[in-house]
Amino acid sequence: MKLLVTGASGFLGGRLCHALLRHGHSVRAFVRPTSDVSSLPPPSDDVPLELAYGDITDYPSLVAACSGCRVVFHAAAVVESWLPDSSQFISVNVGGLKNVLRAYKEMGTIEKIIYTSSFFALGSTDGYTADESQMHSTKSFCTEYEKSKTIADNIALEAAKQGVPITVVCPGVMYGPGKISAGNILARTLIERFNGRLPGYIGDGNDRFSFSHVDDVTNGHVSAMEKGQQGQRYLLTGENASFMQVFDIAADITNTKRSWINIPLFVIEFYGWLSVLFCIITGKLPLISPPVVYYLRHQWAYSCEKAKRELNYKPRNLTEGLEDIIPWLKKSGLIKY
Ligand SMILES: NC(=O)c1ccc[n+]([C@@H]2O[C@H](COP(=O)([O-])OP(=O)(O)OC[C@H]3O[C@@H](n4cnc5c(N)ncnc54)[C@H](OP(=O)(O)O)[C@@H]3O)[C@@H](O)[C@H]2O)c1
Repeated sequence: MKLLVTGASGFLGGRLCHALLRHGHSVRAFVRPTSDVSSLPPPSDDVPLELAYGDITDYPSLVAACSGCRVVFHAAAVVESWLPDSSQFISVNVGGLKNVLRAYKEMGTIEKIIYTSSFFALGSTDGYTADESQMHSTKSFCTEYEKSKTIADNIALEAAKQGVPITVVCPGVMYGPGKISAGNILARTLIERFNGRLPGYIGDGNDRFSFSHVDDVTNGHVSAMEKGQQGQRYLLTGENASFMQVFDIAADITNTKRSWINIPLFVIEFYGWLSVLFCIITGKLPLISPPVVYYLRHQWAYSCEKAKRELNYKPRNLTEGLEDIIPWLKKSGLIKY
């Protein structure tokens, strides 16, 4: 059975292609002509992986890529928290899903779509832990990214009601070995921390995120193809913790000193504005932009009990996950301790 993976050159998509190949599937990886495909195995006689070039906003290129594929994993998205041209979030993240749904309807050969949504599509959870039944209030959004993923999530659920065999998976904040793209935000933050560019905790520890190891998330995607129900959402999240807890666990693992200062969020926001200014001048996208601080002022804690029960999802805890990524970052020469 041939499967299409959009966003195959990304952090998640690359690991997903590897996982699907390990499960014995033939994979077609949808990538852009400009994509860095170095994280994908080189296609060969032994590796049933082929590349299909196109852009998710270019319908004909998507249709050509879908030809002969019975399952589509739609993971492509722009995931930055800020972009100089904010219209890209809607055109790629919403327009891309609309194109996948159109291809399903017009081609008649696709049997299942696994759509990678996000915890952001459920909205914040200030003071409690949410499950899949939470719908985003849509009253306010921290970022255009959050807005685009919420709109797309609603479109996917609506399509399922109209009979499209689509299953929605919502990863938490993903981290792990693999591409250091905009999506691998925790790895990028650890690189800043261990290279001395982040001299303290981010904020006062009141933030809360659900951290998922990328390989647990890819396994969750494979299970969603095998067992996921049409129109159901599955949170592929993990341990709920603050960035302060992440830094403390990282310090314990590496036998390095814990931070002793908290950088107030208003300072980080100011730094974010400077980074945005720097980006406008140089074109280099910032790691920290003001919307990152808007995220940090909320809590995003979720339960993945449904995925554990129905998809046999087995998330590792943060300590196990960090014990995997930190030595990998060191081995890759990205951090020293
Ligand atoms: N990272 C997280 O913490 C997280 C959490 C929850 C949900 N998600 C979701 O997981 C999915 C994968 O994210 P990721 O972390 O792997 O991000 P990523 O590393 O930035 O990968 C994004 C992928 O989308 C592709 N893409 C972007 N615009 C495209 C376009 N116009 N046409 C075709 N492909 C395009 C990128 O291609 P190029 O290589 O050419 O740029 C890349 O392959 C996304 O849907 C994201 O919303 C991520």
